[in-house]
Amino acid sequence: MTTVIKNGTVVTADLTYKADVAVDGGKIVEIGPNLKGDEELDATGCYVMPGGIDPHTHLEMPFMGTYSTDDFESGTRAALAGGTTMVVDFAIPSPDGQGLLDAIQMWDNKSTRAACDYSFHMAITWWGEQVFNEMETVVKDRGITTFKHFMAYKGALMVNDDELFASFQRCGELGALPLVHAENGDVVADLQAKLMAEGNNGPEAHAYSRPPAVEGEAANRAIMIADMAGVPLYVVHVSCEEAHEAIRRARMQGKRVYGEPLIQHLTLDEGEYFDKDWDHSARRVMSPPFRNKQHQESLWAGLQSGSLSVVATDHCAFTTEQKRYGVGDFTKIPNGTGGLEDRIPMLWTYGVSTGRLTPNEFVAVTSTNSAKILNCYPKKGAILVGADADIMVLDPEKEKTISAKTQQSAIDYNVFEGKHVKGLPRYVLTRGKVAVLDGDMKHEPGHGEFVKREPVNPVNKALSTWKELTAPRKVERTGIPASGV
Ligand code: URP
Ligand code: ZN
Ligand code: ZN
Ligand code: ZN
Repeated sequence: MTTVIKNGTVVTADLTYKADVAVDGGKIVEIGPNLKGDEELDATGCYVMPGGIDPHTHLEMPFMGTYSTDDFESGTRAALAGGTTMVVDFAIPSPDGQGLLDAIQMWDNKSTRAACDYSFHMAITWWGEQVFNEMETVVKDRGITTFKHFMAYKGALMVNDDELFASFQRCGELGALPLVHAENGDVVADLQAKLMAEGNNGPEAHAYSRPPAVEGEAANRAIMIADMAGVPLYVVHVSCEEAHEAIRRARMQGKRVYGEPLIQHLTLDEGEYFDKDWDHSARRVMSPPFRNKQHQESLWAGLQSGSLSVVATDHCAFTTEQKRYGVGDFTKIPNGTGGLEDRIPMLWTYGVSTGRLTPNEFVAVTSTNSAKILNCYPKKGAILVGADADIMVLDPEKEKTISAKTQQSAIDYNVFEGKHVKGLPRYVLTRGKVAVLDGDMKHEPGHGEFVKREPVNPVNKALSTWKELTAPRKVERTGIPASGV
């Protein structure tokens, strides 16, 4: 059966043009004028774009004594409702020595009810021979080519510099890309203890314990360690000018560093932590925390200038009840916020409608750049014949006010509650299957497939070529003085 999206304007990361798009067998089969199909979707007045890719989610993540509440079923339902057709989640081994392959098995089990396609990043939470060896299997057999390192969460997920350097070098050998959560975990732990000792135990202290300097320092350190290891680097949830500055500077020096701001940091600010309502503030506790307006402007400028590459959500949704584990001790509030359903409408409203981003730049940062950096382009992130038919048809006139009452996420609130957004999906297709039809959910749990990725990134190859050319070499000398005289 052929489905044709008719009368729309195709918008990709580099082109805008009028065309119909025909889909069959889960793939895009034809793009052109006046196409006919068994099923027709009218896209008059709409933009036909690659479905969103969220490169950073935590669905059913074991964290801080609990599990994030949105699992692969509710999380991918929320994703599709908001025009996102692929999520990349983190398989996280327990730092007490769980193997990487064991952790992947757990994530395989969690993801069977996914309604859209997905891939995994692998987290490195401890270091040893087993991890070193299994990294090769993870890359070559499982098609997971990205490895995440937490520089924060001391005593839990955090790894130290020696572990970072060892893992980054291993990534280099395997053609893989290291990712970092950049915050100085030692300093954060110290500030947390001080704040608690002073009786500063509310959610606002979470922000005080993680100032921009802890993020800037760690981003800079990771960038330098990656440079020494000869690998590219991807910095997740860049929230402030200090981290952005480190990335900008590195890129200007020719280093291959990618920065990922979140839609939350672009549109919500630190004022949320000063709300008189404990629940309101705790629901917004995440790491790094929300920042002030100057930091937000820096992030927007990074998207405009290209120094920041993609917009993610870090979707890690906890209920109010879960957040209340931290009443009386802010360090126990589970860290994380949702955003999967809202990323695309919020970025269109606050990015494109304000003139900060062009529609093509919007496609680049919500989809295509992720597909390229994570090595699944043009299977994903493209409107091209042969690409997977992961498509979002965005109606720029469709609008709503965001509310937890109408969301797909399983939690009881929404950090964007009350925001008015204009620019919503009219249709969303996941590998050719219509999942959203004029606001009605038609998704199918279990439809989602795992996306394997190849370790063939040309950037890795270029960096290792350069590293080899410039490697230390012993100088062969002619006259060697006699020793011991
Ligand atoms: O607060 C956050 N970001 N929670 C999810 C885990 C992480 O650090 O990405
Ligand atoms: Zn993180
Ligand atoms: Zn995260
Ligand atoms: Zn309106």
